[in-house]
Amino acid sequence: MDPLPRFPAGFHVGVATAAYQIEGAVDEDGRGRSIWDTFSHTGGRTRGGDTGDVACDHYHRWAEDLDLVALLGADAYRFSIAWPRVQPGGDGAPNAKGLDFYERLVDGLLERGIEALPTLYHWDLPQALEDRGGWLARDTAERFADYAALVAGRLGDRVRRWITLNEPVVHLAQGYAFGVHAPGRELLLAALPVAHHQLLGHGLAVRALRAAGAGEVLITNNLTPVVPATDDEADQAAAAVYDAFHNRLFLDPILTGRYPPGLDAGVRDGDLEIIGTPLDGLGVNYYFPTRVGAPGADDPLPFRILPVEGAPTTAFGWPVVPEGLHEVLTGLRDRYGRALPPIWVTENGCSTLDEVEPGGRVRDTPRIEYLDGHLRALHRAMSDGVDVRGYFVWSLLDNFEWAEGYTQRFGLVRVDYDTQRRTPKDSFTWLRAALADRR
Ligand code: NOJ
Repeated sequence: MDPLPRFPAGFHVGVATAAYQIEGAVDEDGRGRSIWDTFSHTGGRTRGGDTGDVACDHYHRWAEDLDLVALLGADAYRFSIAWPRVQPGGDGAPNAKGLDFYERLVDGLLERGIEALPTLYHWDLPQALEDRGGWLARDTAERFADYAALVAGRLGDRVRRWITLNEPVVHLAQGYAFGVHAPGRELLLAALPVAHHQLLGHGLAVRALRAAGAGEVLITNNLTPVVPATDDEADQAAAAVYDAFHNRLFLDPILTGRYPPGLDAGVRDGDLEIIGTPLDGLGVNYYFPTRVGAPGADDPLPFRILPVEGAPTTAFGWPVVPEGLHEVLTGLRDRYGRALPPIWVTENGCSTLDEVEPGGRVRDTPRIEYLDGHLRALHRAMSDGVDVRGYFVWSLLDNFEWAEGYTQRFGLVRVDYDTQRRTPKDSFTWLRAALADRR
């Protein structure tokens, strides 16, 4: 394989994970219950009834895992902080042992010369807050800001850069509109206030983080190029509606001060100023483009998602289209112009059908090809003038892939869930060599 193009000095390459997907230890050290504990323990919600009860046991094996991040030669590690470890009931005084864990983790990273990039919310809402309406309730936004202030109060002297929310559009759609993720609500368009309350929580958290001295604050969105199924007007119109919902709902209010038409459920006077509090960076998670056509008579929403044709697929069935990353990044620049802060690709990666050879080797060639193609597309976007500061592979470890349980393996490192043994795959070795090369 040709060597990767050179990224500028100071460009960050890292790996990403999220608390519920790797930590396990759900009943330890005073952790409260989250909506994912409830959801995964409700029959039929996750593949094989899988739960995050043990996951990768990262809560106990974090030092070994950070050694892997160091061995890879990564500049930064993106992880998430579990709100129910910090505030078991979603409000009030912090649980010291929960904060202690993240302090050990951050100190462990710094000792290894790796930058910590925490995400405050990666979908694990304290169940106690869900019982009071979850993100449908405006109060959750205020509670999120309190939680952000507590975490920043403890870690703010060591963490320079923060991410507020992870993929709020996926949380809204899968969690509250279609019910395939926790909390399993199927409200369709009636879920829309969940968008506004997450954005309000984000804006309040940005202010709380800044008040606690945070250096930089980002939000991470999942973005996708939207491809109309045909040139027909009806398909193009449906694609524009989908684009507004998926790509603009969580960016327009932040960067332009306005919601796309019709998507502003729950807004009160003054909210948009809070939501528009300036950011230092924008996190982008990119996996695949989306093909959209006009809805049929039975479709509950004003668009229909169709399979992307002519692209290879990952183990998950997701189309592999590296060009889509270039399109997302240049599209952001074209759409938001000077309002766009520097971009961080906070997730990109794929699941593979790994086989372990007798000596333990995993030849995950499709992952190497996926990452290679996307890093080249990213580099082209940067050559075309888009200001991108970092790139994070999803994920360091195989982990709990939400509704898919443990069936989808996204790791650079294989996890044997029976023994918790970690084995770097070929993609890890490849990325490690590429990172060593740039020094
Ligand atoms: C996005 C999410 O942030 C992450 O939790 C998930 O595992 C990956 N995409 C892969 O689906």
